[in-house]
Amino acid sequence: MPHSTENNVAAEQPVQDKLPEIITHPVPSRLLDSKQCPTPHINSMEQYRSMWKESVEEPNKFFGNLARDLLSWDKPFETVSHGSFEDGDVAWFLEGELNACYNAVDRHALKNPDKIAIIHEGDEPADVRHISYGELLRDVCRMANVLKGLGVRKGDNVAIYMPMIPETMIAILACARIGAIHSVVFAGFSAESLLDRVADCGAHIVITSDEGRRGGRNIATKSIVDNALAKEEAHQVEHVIVYQRTGSGVPMMENRDLWWHEEMEKARPVCSYEKMSAEDPLFLLYTSGSTGAPKGIVHTTGGYLLGAAATVKYIFDVHEDDVYACMADIGWVTGHTYILYGPLTLGVTTVLFESTPTYPTPARFWELIDKHKVTQFYTAPTAIRALQRLGDQWVDECDLSSLRVIGSVGEPINPEAWNWYNEKVGKGRCAVVDTYWQTETGSIIISPLPGCTPTKAGSATLPFFGIQPVLLDPATGAKIDKIDETGVLAIKNPWPSMARSIYQNHSRFLDTYVKAYPGHYFTGDGASIDKDGYIWIRGRVDDVINVSGHRLSTAEIESALSSHNSVSEAAVVGAHDDLTGQAIHAFVSLKPHANVSDGLDRELVLTVRKIIGPFAAPKRIHIVREHPKTRSGKIVRRILRKIVNGEHNQLGDTSTLADPSVIPSIVSQVHQ
Ligand code: WTA
Repeated sequence: MPHSTENNVAAEQPVQDKLPEIITHPVPSRLLDSKQCPTPHINSMEQYRSMWKESVEEPNKFFGNLARDLLSWDKPFETVSHGSFEDGDVAWFLEGELNACYNAVDRHALKNPDKIAIIHEGDEPADVRHISYGELLRDVCRMANVLKGLGVRKGDNVAIYMPMIPETMIAILACARIGAIHSVVFAGFSAESLLDRVADCGAHIVITSDEGRRGGRNIATKSIVDNALAKEEAHQVEHVIVYQRTGSGVPMMENRDLWWHEEMEKARPVCSYEKMSAEDPLFLLYTSGSTGAPKGIVHTTGGYLLGAAATVKYIFDVHEDDVYACMADIGWVTGHTYILYGPLTLGVTTVLFESTPTYPTPARFWELIDKHKVTQFYTAPTAIRALQRLGDQWVDECDLSSLRVIGSVGEPINPEAWNWYNEKVGKGRCAVVDTYWQTETGSIIISPLPGCTPTKAGSATLPFFGIQPVLLDPATGAKIDKIDETGVLAIKNPWPSMARSIYQNHSRFLDTYVKAYPGHYFTGDGASIDKDGYIWIRGRVDDVINVSGHRLSTAEIESALSSHNSVSEAAVVGAHDDLTGQAIHAFVSLKPHANVSDGLDRELVLTVRKIIGPFAAPKRIHIVREHPKTRSGKIVRRILRKIVNGEHNQLGDTSTLADPSVIPSIVSQVHQ
């Protein structure tokens, strides 16, 4: 069955077509010179190709060896891969037992307690904390004991709504230690969104801070938690643990709220860890899909941890003394995998950054690299574009010579931004890794490898180990073999770190990801493959919009808008945006007696901010008399998408619309 949502394959971002000529960049020679850099784990295309071949032809051998090499097991596994997409029972390393916290903390702390695990670069540049593996282990054990004392047991869910501070990582690891399933909610979400997630996962404990700090400002976290928990749907929450970040004197609810520091003082810094089955859930992370409520993506312990560790090792080519810095928020999957689990499982030093790229100046990222001698740096195209616009002088002032690998994630990177990143930040002497993946894939699935893959600006290049990408025709589901032709991107055969389910809704998981194109995992992205086998990601083909690397569901934004009492119907589409990748345009029709005031646009934007969060605010609101609709009354978003993307002269056949005459007024309204 072909994918059922509206097909907008190739609608946006024809990255490759815009380029007059595509240049292939060889691996910088410095990376292969052992006098200047540690020898890359993979340093020839031959090596990559033979490892990839083994990973797909003999996955049991390949991933069995890798899992024994990179992870410590309490009980060895016998079966490597198990199950299939068809049967919906994918599992890896059955019989195996391990603990993610032991792998990320204990084993390094026991061997090398003084090694720095976390460098916290606080909001103010002078506010830096270094936390060793030994200290991390003690604090994680304390928090694990606090949670146990509150009755948290293996398999329970714990919600975490916290800013970018080491205590967030301690809370996550403490959950993993005792087998509790952590569910981190991005601290930019509103009280209503937080409530939905806390109610869905049924957490009895929420961990938060009094406030956060970001860009010189205080961010309310505890008061958002209070608002969320005031609702009946969150009645099961028994305790809120509050870390004091700013000391602003937030109200504490008697019997429910507990201060982090008071509980930690009472707790013993030793706590045995729970031996988890490889397939026990490690965490839930809610993400947006095409329809309805956000999905609690379930990741399990063994396969996820292996994906995290393997990709940090090979894609960032991490070596023992490296300082690895991922600028994502811990509330999204990139933070989970590439700030926390990946680097810590390998025992390297990871940087946790609390501030913004431009606070107090646009040199912040570059000063951070210089100050901590960062070797791998990972950020999003939006940040790169914003900093590029602010001028080269900020980069030029800093010494970036420690860098070896610079990465990009979250959205397609346009060649201009890629070239600037390569030349100005990497100085042409670093590997640029454009890494493609998703919350559901757990870890990177398509990317260059620093020591071997020649790169092309705008292409995520080649599949990681175990990944077999295929392009399918959205209408027929047939495989597309033609060079440069766009299709939907799907993956043949399961890989260790893929999501296993949607929390308490396995049938939705199967319907969304593996039934749309039988025998394949469906990514929701469009892509093409060039003559060298390089993959070019074209953007989402479903109703997901990607704004500054934030993944948003059009359905969720539409439902937020429709909750306003003047709104009759809302349709949301993504428009190409030079800075944020895509921007949200909302087309809204009003109820007959609605009060059309000047401030209505603003009110509608505020409604979305309140219901979802500030990052989901529409950039433009278009009040329309009527939407373009089919005769059966369905809004044709494809037409709206073309109009906002300046393709209103190529709308195609509009005669099937119930009333084609609505189009000219919409076009003139958008492009006036
Ligand atoms: C998009 C973030 C092009 C894509 C890790 C995907 C990308 C969605 C890239 C997942 C990339 C991520 N090139 N597009 N290198 N990386 N995407 O779940 O549309 O927040 O489906 O995971 O981001 O977003 P998510």
